Amino acid sequence: MNFPEKLKSFQEQFEKRLVSDLPKSTERPSRLHEAMNYSLQAGGKRLRPVLVLSGHSLFPSKLDPMPAALAVEIIHTYSLIHDDLPAMDDSDLRRGSPSCHRAFDEATAILAGDALIPLAFEQLARAYQGSSSLGLELVGLLAVAAGSQKLVGGQMEDLLAEGKSPEADTLSYVHANKTAAMIETSLLMGFCLSENGGNIELRSLVSQAGQSLGLAFQAVDDLLDVTSTTEELGKEAAHDQDTEKMTWVRMLGVKQANELACAHTEQALRMIKEIGGDNHFLLKLAEHMLRRKN
Ligand code: IPE
Ligand code: IPE
Ligand code: MG
Ligand code: MG
Ligand code: MG
Repeated sequence: MNFPEKLKSFQEQFEKRLVSDLPKSTERPSRLHEAMNYSLQAGGKRLRPVLVLSGHSLFPSKLDPMPAALAVEIIHTYSLIHDDLPAMDDSDLRRGSPSCHRAFDEATAILAGDALIPLAFEQLARAYQGSSSLGLELVGLLAVAAGSQKLVGGQMEDLLAEGKSPEADTLSYVHANKTAAMIETSLLMGFCLSENGGNIELRSLVSQAGQSLGLAFQAVDDLLDVTSTTEELGKEAAHDQDTEKMTWVRMLGVKQANELACAHTEQALRMIKEIGGDNHFLLKLAEHMLRRKN
């Protein structure tokens, strides 16, 4: 399979499991489950699940990486629902549709986000109980990545930095935590489920590759805010500009912000080559993440 076919195949396998393995919208309270499924099934690039599957396929094993892929996408989706709330970024559009609080209401969107968090951990606990030490390790990795010193901490500093003059230290903290932590952890969780998952040196390389991919990813996200359109993004373009978000683009301009994204991608490519294994897809994915248009 070439890269686009393999990417599509990973995404399609993931979409199937998302529909089959999660609570249906008809389950009581149906409004809550509808809102959860509305946001989960609205599409999106499924990048984090694809990273789990790619981490696993570096050194394939018989363990099923799909529950870990579901878990990271569920956490990511909750973070988007809350990110869009009026108290945070106040965004009306997400994944090409009205954001959750627009389609439902704020209270339902808050509760849908709340309910997604334990649902993610439930996936891991249920799927990997046969190998309880591995299951616990995955729960721990995801809990740290989603927590107050990673994803939520990054979101806090992102909000505190709004309207302030850009500073490299704050931006590095925000990008490393609000975005790169979950991207790194997605790749690492997949790798932990692989045949070489216990190899400490490889784990460290996988983490470093994931961190660099994540830093490139958020640099590109900020660039797309100014270089792309609402239609292409499926979320409001120029929103960061309008709300005076602290971004590399605001600090360095488009050209240098783009160079930074390229440098992080180069670093990721070096690490992925060092990891070895069946890394062809991951090398292509790193380039695809840099060139993406949404
Ligand atoms: C958006 O993530 C939030 C950021 C961390 C920039 P994605 O760009 O991966 O959003 P979806 O999942 O494709 O909608
Ligand atoms: C959000 O970053 C990162 C999250 C943890 C949700 P952004 O606020 O830049 O994401 P978008 O641009 O709304 O997707
Ligand atoms: Mg935000
Ligand atoms: Mg936002
Ligand atoms: Mg953004």
